[in-house]
Amino acid sequence: MIPLSLARIARVTGGQLCHGDPGAVVSGEVVIDSRRAGPGGLFAAVAGERSDGHDFAAAAVAAGATAVLATRPVPVPSVLVADVPAALAALARSVVDALPAVRIAGITGSSGKTSTKDLAAQLVERLGPTIAPAGSYNNEFGHPLTVLRADAATRYLVLELSARGVGHIAYLCRVAPPRYGVVLNVGHAHAGEFGGLDQVARAKGELAEALPADGVAILNADDPRVLAMAERTEARVVTFSTGSDAPVRAVDIRLDDLGRPSFTLLTPDGSAPVTLRLHGAHNVPNALAAAALARELGMDLDGIAAGLRDAVARSRWRMEVRRRADGVTVINDAYNANPESVRAAIDALAHLAQDGRAFAVLGHMAELGGTSRASHEDIGEYAARIGDSGLAGLIAVGEEAAPLLDGARRVRSWTGEALAVPDGAAALELLANRLKPSDVVLIKASRAAHLEGVAADLLGEAGQ
Ligand SMILES: Nc1ncnc2c1ncn2[C@@H]1O[C@H](COP(=O)(O)OP(=O)(O)O)[C@@H](O)[C@H]1O
Ligand SMILES: [Mg+2]
Repeated sequence: MIPLSLARIARVTGGQLCHGDPGAVVSGEVVIDSRRAGPGGLFAAVAGERSDGHDFAAAAVAAGATAVLATRPVPVPSVLVADVPAALAALARSVVDALPAVRIAGITGSSGKTSTKDLAAQLVERLGPTIAPAGSYNNEFGHPLTVLRADAATRYLVLELSARGVGHIAYLCRVAPPRYGVVLNVGHAHAGEFGGLDQVARAKGELAEALPADGVAILNADDPRVLAMAERTEARVVTFSTGSDAPVRAVDIRLDDLGRPSFTLLTPDGSAPVTLRLHGAHNVPNALAAAALARELGMDLDGIAAGLRDAVARSRWRMEVRRRADGVTVINDAYNANPESVRAAIDALAHLAQDGRAFAVLGHMAELGGTSRASHEDIGEYAARIGDSGLAGLIAVGEEAAPLLDGARRVRSWTGEALAVPDGAAALELLANRLKPSDVVLIKASRAAHLEGVAADLLGEAGQ
């Protein structure tokens, strides 16, 4: 973070300084969780559903925060603003403008943003000091908070950009204008809120539109809606592909028994063998996107290949594969779910279960709008057809997930069990009576279902 005086914060945000010394300096982290407020920091008070950050203003200052960004008066040093996200955006933009040497990359898409951001960050860190968000800090709060961590030493910002509607990504791109943009895919995540895939494409393409003429748009050639974004950018276009003839591509893709991909990475600089520590074939396009970005930032092929080989999963509950002492394998992919990511996870499950039986504990996929029921049925059908004989057991958690079972039952030849349970505890009970060594269990649902606890229980990891 570059040190900012309260006077400057008030000026940049158009806010009013209260109870504070204008010369007092914020030099620590800017946070929206008062429990994370620390010495020299700035606590941004936000009114949430359950609690109001303003009630914790005094506690944040007691913990060492220099001041509070607030929308109503609080009894401690503060800058009063009309809108906290807008104030954070203005502050972040002022930091970006003060650091012209920082190269900014934005990553968007319906699935795989965090995985790709984590891969890309682990490559780019080899080039120089890099700021990338923790987890999915990708919206109007997390994005500026991440940008605000940059300082004079920072060389790269690797940012994850999320959207729940048209205009959101354009907004994030104004907060920190990227010169490098990666678009992974256009899928059904939040499609209900967007109003269909064309709207999703319109929204994700705002990243391509935001890139300058001397920028680079890194586009997935395997997704026609993403490739079409080449028409919407002034930037130079670089594509990646796992199938077609793109400048950055993967050939000879294989998965080991735990679903970790190996492939030959081809770039205009030559080829290199790569084995990922991440699980699932869907991480190959993610790795290619990260490789293409690193290459544009000046990394050589050996560095890229070594970086990809060393990269680990930094964010939890995305395709975590663990084998229990009794030989049961658990895939914890419980971070979130949409039709594309559930298919990718079922593919990985089928691969891992080649020598055993496959079980899937699936919660519902949120925010799909009018296509929700049909999408759940289609996924159920997909699960019943996978591999030689479909899943041995499909456990739908919660009423909204029940259409998964209707879809699976459409497959007449399917001999697996279709089981409906009200919650994760009931799913665990069913599994306890069924699992045998060499079985594989996938756990996946939208975030709201919190099914990661099921995976933790299966693995005997209490308190997660
Ligand atoms: N390229 C991809 N295509 C389809 N599904 C993917 C891809 N990358 C990741 N996933 C799936 O999506 C889930 C969420 O991944 P994540 O990287 O957190 O994406 P996001 O940040 O876009 O939500 C993962 O658990 C995985 O199942
Ligand atoms: Mg994410």
